[in-house]
Amino acid sequence: MRYLLLSGGQVVNSGGTVRADVLVRDGKVEAIGDLAGLPITDVRREDCTGRFLLPGGVDVHTHIDSPMMGTTTADDFASGTRAAACGGTTTVVDFAMQPPGEKLVSSLQAHRARAEERAVVDYGFHMCVTDLYDGATDEFPEIVESGVTSFKVFMAYRGTLMLHDGDLFEVLRRSSALGGQVCVHAENGDVIDRLAAELVAAGRTGPASHELARPPSTEVEAVQRAIRISRMADAPLYFVHLSTEGAVAAVAEARAREWAVAGETCTHYLTLDRSLYDAPGFEPAKVVLTPPLRTREHRDALWRGLRAGTLGVVSSDHCPFCLTEKQRLGEHDFRAIPNGGPGVEHRMIVMYAEGVRAGRISLEKLVELTATTPARQFGLFPAKGAIVAGADADIVVLDPDGATTISAATQQQRMDYTPYEGWTLPGALEAVYSRGELIARNGEYVGADGRGRFLRRATL
Ligand code: URP
Ligand code: ZN
Ligand code: ZN
Repeated sequence: MRYLLLSGGQVVNSGGTVRADVLVRDGKVEAIGDLAGLPITDVRREDCTGRFLLPGGVDVHTHIDSPMMGTTTADDFASGTRAAACGGTTTVVDFAMQPPGEKLVSSLQAHRARAEERAVVDYGFHMCVTDLYDGATDEFPEIVESGVTSFKVFMAYRGTLMLHDGDLFEVLRRSSALGGQVCVHAENGDVIDRLAAELVAAGRTGPASHELARPPSTEVEAVQRAIRISRMADAPLYFVHLSTEGAVAAVAEARAREWAVAGETCTHYLTLDRSLYDAPGFEPAKVVLTPPLRTREHRDALWRGLRAGTLGVVSSDHCPFCLTEKQRLGEHDFRAIPNGGPGVEHRMIVMYAEGVRAGRISLEKLVELTATTPARQFGLFPAKGAIVAGADADIVVLDPDGATTISAATQQQRMDYTPYEGWTLPGALEAVYSRGELIARNGEYVGADGRGRFLRRATL
């Protein structure tokens, strides 16, 4: 068929919602409006009456097929992006790790090769810098020119991933000179390591200690320090996975001064809380992710931060390790449990239910947080992140009268658990289109293998 016509739905963009038909041709949105009388033939028509049409989700924080903490994340690019597709996410920006002893460009090439011909949604990368060896920053221009316009640095995990402040300063400075931006994992790693060692010495080796070793102040201090360092470097800064009220306050203060500081939080910090660490046995390992889950007071502050515009993005931080793998590595010492959890498949529906249907945010704000702002922030807008003429026809058809039940038994993520097990949520993702192709229907992947395309992202 030459054309696709999605008729009669409510088209939702961050700026407003209109009842309109959407005409798609050659993978792009051709027109939006009252198109019922359009004299076209060779058209596939889909009746979307009573449905919302949302821009395909843009998840700018995933770790797919990624080496981490002595193992590899459980999803490869086939399973991870199928899960994304079924959950209404049509673009991912994944972290390309720099493994120990490896150079940056070759690490990026190796990660890109893992995605090619496997990914089923469109994808880009951030370059993780875990070792600033002599000459590392000389590779930055090639990386940025290849369309990988952001870097990630860790202020925690000394000895494996962490950069010291001087290296953070240098990455900020060199990246900014190229129009790139730096994503920062802000936690005070040295304080955390000391607290963790004390807990182990006291015999508190179980997974619940993960939370105790990473109190809110370890995030807040690192956020404040990173902001100061970014001012010294005169460089923009993007905070990943913020989890605390104090971090939101620090970002708000920086933004009030018109400093180029942006922040994201993640689905799990908005919808789960620290009570999961009180579960018996090894259960808390399911939420050994970093930073840890916090109290409801922090959770409420994150929602306020989103509504106020202090935080602009909700990502999944999809970093999946099966519970069996967490137990194999960390049964006797929580420090060895690989940090992370699944999330790419359920970000959109959980945010719709817990955000929009629970009355915390509007539908337009949902679109802004899950698609428009991430696309803008990371050089993908307007091809991604909006349903407008000329954009890629990445469209999610959401039935507000449907329902979704989440279970490990039925999920696409290659995981033996989900933190949302048994949750039944209002709303159902009925159909997902990527560049005009139907790729998922009612939670099942129906697209072709390996159809995703690498996205060269723009600089700031
Ligand atoms: O728990 C998480 N998030 N795992 C590691 C990757 C990261 O973003 O720090
Ligand atoms: Zn991180
Ligand atoms: Zn992450």
